[in-house]
Amino acid sequence: MSSTLDSPTPLKHTIESSQGLSVLKLSDAAVASKRVAREIGALIRQRASENRNCVLGLATGSTPIRVYRELVRMHREEGLSFHNVITFNLDEYFPIQPNAAQSYVRFMNEQLFDHIDIVRTNIHIPNGTIELEAVPGYCRDYDELIATTGGIDLQLLGIGRTGHIGFNEPGATRDTRTRLVKLDTLTRVDAVKDFGGMDQVPLLAITMGVDSILQSSRIRLLAFGEHKADIVQRSIEGPITSTIPASYLKTHRDVQYLLDDAAAECLSPSTLGETPQ
Ligand code: PGA
Repeated sequence: MSSTLDSPTPLKHTIESSQGLSVLKLSDAAVASKRVAREIGALIRQRASENRNCVLGLATGSTPIRVYRELVRMHREEGLSFHNVITFNLDEYFPIQPNAAQSYVRFMNEQLFDHIDIVRTNIHIPNGTIELEAVPGYCRDYDELIATTGGIDLQLLGIGRTGHIGFNEPGATRDTRTRLVKLDTLTRVDAVKDFGGMDQVPLLAITMGVDSILQSSRIRLLAFGEHKADIVQRSIEGPITSTIPASYLKTHRDVQYLLDDAAAECLSPSTLGETPQ
């Protein structure tokens, strides 16, 4: 168990039963996002100095936006180059056109890729336009390509209110690979704000599997806001179960949750390394 404090702000504590899991409660989402962005920047630079690629697993949704904003700032103001970076996004709605307002291709271009010097052919996002029959082969190739690049060095994650990581909804087992999945109703309800109506929200998505995610060397999960507090608590303090796919993260050797106050609200003081009042 480690209780090293590497900065005065966060509280760090490793859950006893989950050797590789640490939980940081930070003062707010901006501080948490900057911390992850700095870690990503340091990894990119370290790899560049060794003439090696850096493979990043990227997430969409409202949660990682500040991380991308900070990476863009580091590119513009601190000369951080993405020339040696290869990316794999977690998921994409299916079917969806890349230029649709809600597509994750568009999201990633607008939030990150259009503002940095990444080589376009190094970007991988599940393709929402392929024929249904081609999906299984496409998904196998996606996992294989990740492996061929040497595997994901750092995977950025959010968490859905269902406990999903990527679009691995309740029921997704630990051995799942990249595949076509049905979206949970709660996930679709949460997406109504983007699509304008429940009947507009896709029923399906392509997602990296739980096992695909767990193959990554490091995993950093961000969660902000009180609407995430309950699922964060259950995924960290509850049992490891397919009912909450995020709970499988507890089996990983290097996973860190970075939370704001509100998202950490339901965690017990001992998880946060706090002394009860
Ligand atoms: P959010 O989604 O960042 O929009 O809350 C997170 C997720 O579904 O993984």
